[in-house]
Amino acid sequence: MEEPPAFSEFTDSVMDIALRRMRAEDVSQVADIEREAFAPLSLGTPFKRDLNNRYVRYLVAHWPDNSPEPSEEPEVPPDSPPQSSIWGRVVRTVQGVVRRDESPAPGEDIVGYVGMWFQGNEAHITEIAVRHDLRGNGLGELLLIGSVRAAVENGSSVVTLEVRVSNFIAQRLYEKYGFKTAGVRKGYYTNNREDALIMTTSPVHTDDYQKLFASLQNSFTVRYGKITLL
Ligand SMILES: CC(C)(COP(=O)(O)OP(=O)(O)OC[C@H]1O[C@@H](n2cnc3c(N)ncnc32)[C@H](O)[C@@H]1OP(=O)(O)O)[C@@H](O)C(=O)NCCC(=O)NCCS
Repeated sequence: MEEPPAFSEFTDSVMDIALRRMRAEDVSQVADIEREAFAPLSLGTPFKRDLNNRYVRYLVAHWPDNSPEPSEEPEVPPDSPPQSSIWGRVVRTVQGVVRRDESPAPGEDIVGYVGMWFQGNEAHITEIAVRHDLRGNGLGELLLIGSVRAAVENGSSVVTLEVRVSNFIAQRLYEKYGFKTAGVRKGYYTNNREDALIMTTSPVHTDDYQKLFASLQNSFTVRYGKITLL
């Protein structure tokens, strides 16, 4: 089976959205996305401190500095169905937030993030969120792909997380990537005592999971654009 790329070299560019590890200068934008995504809970995650924790990893989805010109078309396999560019869909769906013919304003280039803890043989997703205006464009899926790749690279056996029982959108995303409900944490969320589902993948190094993951990444590429290792 082909080895995944080392994460240190992993900068995936899907059309003009890229994934990379969070840096100190991203922290205030990530904190804004966290506030927006998880209100009324105020998580107040110490992102800056976590940057120095080797058991914690944050990835951000961002507009790269070298965004392609609007006229540049991505490489697509012949006979693939028409693609829906993330950027193009953003332009259609977002009023005044980002425009394809403009670079994002300084300090407005982060569009989503995911956090993970590596604990024993588990890679635990602590948070995943996409800017509200940009949801439904494949960014959550891109972040999840990055997380699973990071888990594989780290040698984690499974990827786990908690999700509100009412958060069907997130649950659909996780189920798509092979997560199954493994239990319930009663009254887990402090604002309304809502229960959390504990969800987990099967072991990510098995041929079965890798086959599923490869096929999902392939579908993602066909739908949203080529995934390029820069
Ligand atoms: C959950 C979240 C990260 C998903 O990100 P997103 O960029 O909107 O999702 P994507 O566009 O990548 O969609 C990926 C999959 O999620 C599911 N999904 C996304 N939007 C959905 C919707 N409106 N209804 C049902 N399922 C949906 C689908 O399975 C979708 O795959 P599909 O397009 O093949 O159907 C985003 O909704 C978010 O930030 N929510 C607030 C924070 C949060 O709840 N985080 C999870 C905490 S556990």
